[in-house]
This record gives sequence, C-alpha cells and structure tokens, in this order.
Amino acid sequence: MDFTGKVAVVTGGGNGIGRATALGFARGGARVVVVDRDETGGAETVATIQAAGGEAIFTAANVTSSADVAAYVRLAVETYGRIDCFHNNAGIEGRIAPTADYAEDDFDAVMAVNAKGVFLGMRHVLPVMITQGGGAVVNTASVAGLAPSAGMVAYVASKHAVLGMTKVAAAEVGRNNIRVNAVCPGPIATRMTRDIARQVSPNNPDAVEARYSSSIPLGRYGTAEEVANVVLFLCSDLASNVTGTQYVVDGGRLSGAAGVTSNGMR
Ligand SMILES: NC(=O)c1ccc[n+]([C@@H]2O[C@H](COP(=O)([O-])OP(=O)(O)OC[C@H]3O[C@@H](n4cnc5c(N)ncnc54)[C@H](O)[C@@H]3O)[C@@H](O)[C@H]2O)c1
Repeated sequence: MDFTGKVAVVTGGGNGIGRATALGFARGGARVVVVDRDETGGAETVATIQAAGGEAIFTAANVTSSADVAAYVRLAVETYGRIDCFHNNAGIEGRIAPTADYAEDDFDAVMAVNAKGVFLGMRHVLPVMITQGGGAVVNTASVAGLAPSAGMVAYVASKHAVLGMTKVAAAEVGRNNIRVNAVCPGPIATRMTRDIARQVSPNNPDAVEARYSSSIPLGRYGTAEEVANVVLFLCSDLASNVTGTQYVVDGGRLSGAAGVTSNGMR
C-alpha cells in the first residue's frame, strides 16, 4: 500500500500493534508521528523506521490529557504540515476482576485511556482533517467492543464506547471526505495479552494462552502485523468507500466457528 507523501499519526506507537502500524506506514512511504507515554518504546519505533530509511518523529504524550493531545497534533502539523492517517490506538487492559469487585479507580483509569483518549484524539485531529479536506481515522476497538469478556467490565465498556464514537464521527465527517473506521482485534501476541494471562493465572499464564488458542479456528493468537495490515488497508485509498464500520481480526474466534468444528469432524 502506497502512502507516499502522506503523514500518519499513531498513538500507542511505542509497542505492539501501534508499533507495527507505524512501521507499516513508514514502509509505505508515509512520514510518521509516533505518540506514546513510553519514551523508550517510542524512541525504538522511530529508530527502527529511520534505520530502514524512513522518516518519523516521536513525541511523548498521555492520551488522557487534552493538553498533551493538542500538543502532539500541533507537532504533527508544524513538522509535516498535515495529518492524512490517524491510528487512534493507545489502550490499556486494566485490572481483571469480577464486576462485583471492580474498583472504581480501576474503572476510571481504563475509561480514561481507552474511551476518553480516543475521543480526545478525534476531537483534535478531525479539525485538521476538515481544514485540509480529507483524511482517514482508524480507532482500535477490540472484539471486546462486540462481545463480553468476564472480568473485564471496564475494558469491555470502553471498547463498546470506541465503536459508538467511531460511528458518530463517521456520520459527522463523511461529507468532509474523512473516513472513520475501527479495527477489532481478537487475542494478539503483545504485552497486553501476556499481562491478562498473568492476571488470570499468575502461576501458569501459558495454560491460559493454550486454552484460549484452542477456541480460535486458526488455532493461534494473531500478530501485531496482522492487525496493522488491516489498519493500513482502512487508511489506504483501497478502502475509499469504507466508513463507519469495524473490521474483526481475530482468527475467526468471534464467529463461533471453533464450536462448530470441534465436534470431531475437523
Ligand atoms: N493485544 C490484544 O490482544 C488486543 C486485542 C484487542 C484490542 N487491543 C487493543 O490494541 C491497542 C494496542 O494494544 P497492544 O496489544 O499493542 O498493547 P501494548 O501494551 O503492547 O501497547 C499499548 C501502547 O499504548 C501505550 N499507552 C497506554 N496508555 C497510554 C496513554 N495513557 N498515553 C499514551 N500511550 C499510552 C503504551 O505505552 C503502549 O506502548 C489497545 O487499544 C488495545 O486495547 C489489543
């Protein structure tokens, strides 16, 4: 996919899915603004892009702070003049606990990053895209935006919120030549899923991952690159008539297909 001459901003670009998207944009010829609160990870992403001959800058920001969000948007425009593609991706899993036990502070912390952070990103990037006459946004939701996951009330609420905001924004800015979509990853092999497995079973996280993998038709966790590929597609001109929707990248798990094939016929 060709992003020559385009400018891409990726939040949570210091690790995992965001890093894979940042590297993909750069490979396609985009100039990339990597945003993360993790300065080490963000600097590593930029160094990897530059080592391959690409162009990128890193800026440290907490996506829950509107001042930080305004600052990374300003930096992108001052440095590269525009924002064509925005992967609004930073997120946290939060604590795993039943709703009856879930601490209010933990709920607020997850909603602040995953829901408010995504809102603030669009709140500050969309005016730039409106002024320049176009753009593409991909918000990272999750299969947790479409189905429940026990022990993750805040995460599930936040990802349902991301899908709602995606549809609202898409309706509002379609006439401005801006597309807004969401990607819904299933289990992807990153720090996040490792942490969830450790919280569920501190002594045997591998068993959690093995159990989960067995419920996935493709039989494995996805990779960050496999999610990035869909994000890049949604940001590209190949998706020029796609807006207000979500793409699931989960190895088939949400389809329920594992239940159909596990009857011994496989
Ligand atoms: N890994 C999965 O299985 C999976 C599945 C579905 C959805 N997702 C979503 O994908 C996105 C990326 O997750 P990942 O798996 O790459 O995890 P990750 O932990 O590897 O990466 C998340 C990145 O976001 C950054 N971040 C977190 N809070 C931030 C904040 N307040 N301000 C700025 N940066 C912040 C982190 O520093 C990190 O670099 C998240 O929104 C996550 O909810 C992941």
